[in-house]
Amino acid sequence: PPLHTLLNLDEIEAAAKPQVSKKCWAYYYSAGDDMFSKSNNNAVYRDILLRPRVFIDCTQASTETTLLGHKVGTPLYVSPAAMARLAHPDGEAGIAKGISRFGGMQVISNNASMTPEQIVADAPPGQVFGWQLYVQNDRRKSEAMLRRINKLRDHFKFIALTLDAPVPGKREIDEKANLESQAIVESASNEKSDGEKRPSGGGVGQQLFWGTAADLTWHTTLPWLAEHTDLPIVLKGVQTHEDAYLAAQYARKHPGSVKAIILSNHGGRALDTAPPAIHTLLEIRKHCPEVLDTIEVWIDGGIKRGTDVVKALCLGAKAVGVGRAALWGLGAGGWKGVDRTFEILQGEIDTCMKLLGAKNVSDLGPRFVNARKVERD
Ligand code: FNR
Repeated sequence: PPLHTLLNLDEIEAAAKPQVSKKCWAYYYSAGDDMFSKSNNNAVYRDILLRPRVFIDCTQASTETTLLGHKVGTPLYVSPAAMARLAHPDGEAGIAKGISRFGGMQVISNNASMTPEQIVADAPPGQVFGWQLYVQNDRRKSEAMLRRINKLRDHFKFIALTLDAPVPGKREIDEKANLESQAIVESASNEKSDGEKRPSGGGVGQQLFWGTAADLTWHTTLPWLAEHTDLPIVLKGVQTHEDAYLAAQYARKHPGSVKAIILSNHGGRALDTAPPAIHTLLEIRKHCPEVLDTIEVWIDGGIKRGTDVVKALCLGAKAVGVGRAALWGLGAGGWKGVDRTFEILQGEIDTCMKLLGAKNVSDLGPRFVNARKVERD
């Protein structure tokens, strides 16, 4: 169907499904075990009510904000997700082109299907990218990658270190699809291909994780990282208020290192029944609200509507990421499909803000939501 006839993210996903390979669909769609976290990531937003105010001039609503000091057109960003070219040859560069009209940032996966040099080659001026790092067992490979990113600092403004998946989750849909095709999937950007024999079974996720380190700690990994980059660090995959507190404490002790955390359960693809990020955000508000003033708190997982984005912003998130939505957009129509996906979400955010009585992002606050049903548990 023509892209303009697709009106919401479910329709984009449905349009993408028949256009991508079975293997691609299975890899993107899959999540850990019974996929409870994946479905809960989205369902939880239904339990948060909005509290619209009336008699407010809402002829204009602006989504402009700043992230890590960079001006962006919208707090909506693209989460790092591996292997965009499985869906469409436009790949990660196509996602960049698709979101360029809206001014949001894009985090590139360590396991991207294009190199960082290729991705930024045609990027619009001012486009903010982040590089997501999976630390490799052979640290020299990660160090080489950090050197490449340092050379691209005009584009890459931070390193997002992923912590929620030291090992991949058990993604049965992905594994099942791969039983039929056995072909080995390689990312373009990571210097892994050195002739070592890698396992062929276990799904795309497990193949990509091969060589990834599971021995990261607060005390060893962050000092090592600081030796190899001076870009700000964003810790991705925080799932409890305890770890959010530790991150803020680390940030206070080491200025210039950790600048933000991303509350995320990896789109439900790591530990099943891990909490939706919005839960963790509510925990932080209750137990250690000072975290929100110390570092930026971003959030991802389960975003399907503009109202989801606005609710997260109201509860203190500075930025809100989408993973699968961008990939489904790409699958539905290459870069134009991504453009349509963001057009839909941005339109819904605009409508939501106007109906809520908020003129800009800084207006959004907890007074606009009732999250009691989610806070209760
Ligand atoms: C991911 N995600 C991910 N995260 C990461 O840090 N590095 C990665 O390489 C990937 N790869 C990846 C591939 C695919 C196909 C998906 C769907 C996800 C997780 C991603 O960054 C993000 O946390 C979730 O996708 C957010 O949930 P939604 O928006 O997909 O519901």
